[in-house]
Amino acid sequence: MKGIVLAGGTGSRLFPLTKITNKHLLPIFDKPMIYYPIQTLVEAGIRDLLIVTGGRNSGDFLRLLANGKEFGLKHINYTYQEGEGGIAEALALAEHFAEDDKICVILGDNIIEGSIAGAVRDFEHQERGAKILLKEVPDAERFGVADLAGDRIVGIEEKPARPKSKYAVTGIYLYDRTVFDKTRTLKPSARGELEITDVNNAYIREGTMTFSYLDGWWTDAGTFESLLRAANLVHETRQKNQRAVAAV
Ligand code: G1P
Repeated sequence: MKGIVLAGGTGSRLFPLTKITNKHLLPIFDKPMIYYPIQTLVEAGIRDLLIVTGGRNSGDFLRLLANGKEFGLKHINYTYQEGEGGIAEALALAEHFAEDDKICVILGDNIIEGSIAGAVRDFEHQERGAKILLKEVPDAERFGVADLAGDRIVGIEEKPARPKSKYAVTGIYLYDRTVFDKTRTLKPSARGELEITDVNNAYIREGTMTFSYLDGWWTDAGTFESLLRAANLVHETRQKNQRAVAAV
């Protein structure tokens, strides 16, 4: 399976922090934001990575990450998103890289405590379709929200005023190669973007979407509050782990 980190966008919700740099280069406690999603993929055994960046600061990613030695990698692939056309447009740029492989896509501002290795393994065995990871949250209206009927997912609503469940669709998506046919059929949403939620709903309509629940904490980092929360969660987890090591 190949991994794709989406790290474009204007980061407009974090202005002026993002006026002179890309959101995914901002610090989360002691590391640049993009380190965390890369680590999540590498820890799950995915070693063939593509970073999709954009804007004026794309060269900084190359200088920061180089060939990925810090992550135990020999090579990292990069591509450039011209416009601000949304997550699904960024994903479409990965088609040449994915070839016929399955892909694991992670949004560059999604930070997790645990591991996605189990979900990645399960998806390796899933014959076709897609898989998403859900997380119960107190503020579901900020995210794509799963509409669940028993153990089935029947739809996803993007930032609904009245969420049908407490389960946010996290920014970690597993897709088969048909994802690129699906991105080609999308029309821009009200916010002028090609929405990843529309891609996921296409899989749900097709009956090939599976899901699992993400263990441990999860946060995005695209607003001032969530950026601060992400740093605090990373810090607290680091302290907890250090205490556990000291106690042995
Ligand atoms: C995006 C997706 C949303 C998802 C979220 C996860 O939202 O559109 O469905 O729940 O990422 O972080 P955005 O951050 O682009 O508003």
